[in-house]
Amino acid sequence: MAHVIGLDIGSFSVKVVLLKERGGRLVLVDFAVADLGEEPIESLEPEQRNTITQNLIKQLLTTAGLKSKDVAISLSGDQVIVRYIKLPYMTKEELKGVIRFEAEQYIPFSMDQVVLDFCILGEVTEEGQKKIEVLLVAIKEEVVNQYIKLLRDIGLSISLIDIDSMSLHNALECNYDRIEGETVAIINMGARFTNLNIVEDGITRFSRDIPIGGINLTRDIAKEFNLGFAEAEKLKREQGSIIIESENVVLTRIPSKEDKRVRIYSSISTTMGKLVMEIRRAFDFYESSAKKKAITKAYICGGAAKLQNVEKFVAERLKIFVEPLNPFNKIEIENTEAFDLKVKQFSPVLPVAVGLAIRKIK
Ligand SMILES: Nc1ncnc2c1ncn2[C@@H]1O[C@H](COP(=O)(O)OP(=O)(O)OP(=O)(O)O)[C@@H](O)[C@H]1O
Ligand SMILES: [Mg+2]
Repeated sequence: MAHVIGLDIGSFSVKVVLLKERGGRLVLVDFAVADLGEEPIESLEPEQRNTITQNLIKQLLTTAGLKSKDVAISLSGDQVIVRYIKLPYMTKEELKGVIRFEAEQYIPFSMDQVVLDFCILGEVTEEGQKKIEVLLVAIKEEVVNQYIKLLRDIGLSISLIDIDSMSLHNALECNYDRIEGETVAIINMGARFTNLNIVEDGITRFSRDIPIGGINLTRDIAKEFNLGFAEAEKLKREQGSIIIESENVVLTRIPSKEDKRVRIYSSISTTMGKLVMEIRRAFDFYESSAKKKAITKAYICGGAAKLQNVEKFVAERLKIFVEPLNPFNKIEIENTEAFDLKVKQFSPVLPVAVGLAIRKIK
């Protein structure tokens, strides 16, 4: 069984990762990351978008020296429909037979237009009735076909399609020891979406792709400073930060050099506030549903989480511990200093691709 290349085609950047196994341990073979352009790729025509994406993927595979033709990809946001449902107890085989019928009421598309998959997460007893908890995933066939074509045209074949939240889950699982009885969150702040997972005893029981990400922050800055998108993006990366409450002192002295920093923060604070509020709402919803324990910790990742102080901000607002999700926490890296540096720089954007790369071709 060979490993597949984990290919994460985001709306802002593309990431490729290849792992191998040695002596029962996972080893990073190589990886590459690059932005699709200076502007959000959504603003382009589909044809143009495809060409840019294809060229970038080819270039990344060459850069990383990856020759395998098999890739695992993952979808998210409005491309997938994910539901966590409960059904009367039945075996996996039985469920296979009825899943299309059961799924119908949860999926807003005609059943013959979607590719459907499911996973039994666990069993519960509610009001004396034994039930199964099921993760239901539906992807429009049209979307799947678009990706098959996109990659086939550059000589790649898809051996696996996953969803971001499951890739993130796998990245967490293979890198951190599970603590019995602990409920944690994964927050992946991308460009268009922030993927949120709630993981209880090693099972993701809730996930949501919140439509707020780095693109929104850049747009806020562009508006405040009257800049184009690319310029605002640059300003965000170079001088953007969140001024957290415990650092309030900055706001009262306002040295002139800090002025810009304060203005940047003011421009993005509404969006950041909205994002943490959405996360809080998801936590509240989850914690108030039957028998759930409080979420105590969040692992954070994604390009937008590179903004200075994001971790502290999330920790302060949500009153939980926050730590970066290191996708190579337990994965061996053949050390050269340069490679180490590159790994450190890009780690925040790699969890999805690593989660995909962990999977094997059957
Ligand atoms: N140093 C930085 N400071 C702040 N933001 C950054 C920095 N570097 C990258 N970003 C932001 O990270 C975002 C890209 O993150 P990522 O690569 O995780 O997104 P994506 O996977 O392409 O998007 P999505 O999953 O939402 O489709 C962009 O909005 C970019 O502005
Ligand atoms: Mg992403």
